[in-house]
Amino acid sequence: MNKNRLVITEDGSHTLFVADLNEHYHSVHGAVAESKHVFIEAGLKPMLSKKKQISVLEIGLGTGLNAALALLEAENNNVQLIYTGIEPKPIDTEVVNQLNYFSIDGGERMREAIMSIHHGERSHAFSIGKHFVMNYLEARIQDIRFDNETFDLVFFDAFSPTSQPELWTIDVFRKIFSAIQPNGFLVTYVAKGEVRRTMKACGFEIEKLPGFAGKREMTRAHKPLITIPLTI
Ligand SMILES: C[S@@+](CC[C@H](N)C(=O)[O-])C[C@H]1O[C@@H](n2cnc3c(N)ncnc32)[C@H](O)[C@@H]1O
Repeated sequence: MNKNRLVITEDGSHTLFVADLNEHYHSVHGAVAESKHVFIEAGLKPMLSKKKQISVLEIGLGTGLNAALALLEAENNNVQLIYTGIEPKPIDTEVVNQLNYFSIDGGERMREAIMSIHHGERSHAFSIGKHFVMNYLEARIQDIRFDNETFDLVFFDAFSPTSQPELWTIDVFRKIFSAIQPNGFLVTYVAKGEVRRTMKACGFEIEKLPGFAGKREMTRAHKPLITIPLTI
């Protein structure tokens, strides 16, 4: 049996350990802290100052932590989020029920957000409060087609390029590039040169930012306002 196992990280919050990949869903130095550093501080917050309605795509919804933190941020800032989360392997209900994120951040509203994200309908948009529309797609990124220029912001939170090289490919990043609005951007915890070169080949402009907890860098990849067609 290769069931994922809940583990407590350094800030007290849960992550999942995946035995098959020998990898955790988040940094062992703090799941909530990492999620805030990479996706909220470097991703959502800069976008909050630009728009009052933001369309977010997450690749690898997992525990729903990034989505729930984004919901809290939207409510605190009176901004509307339309949140599409892609996840081919939803986590078990018994694991969802044990997640302790509410005791680290957000209290009861965090608990409600996590429950609503996981127990809502799949493939149908539904509201969680006044500021958040959730669309949970139980699918692989490779199998989804998006309309062009749908998203302002992408949280790219797949497993590492070593564990899941098939998700860090030119095909996947081309698809995401087309689906992002000009001036929109993608954030990820990964800083690998090869990944950045692949993103650049799709037209992204790469910004290097300080990584979480001792990691030297993370990546913010921007879609420029004017895109020069590239032949690869
Ligand atoms: C690093 S974990 C994500 C952690 C998650 N964002 C969270 O806060 O819990 C990577 C996630 O990507 C999902 N995943 C695996 N293959 C995928 C695929 N082909 N497309 C989209 N997501 C995938 C995994 O099931 C896992 O939930």
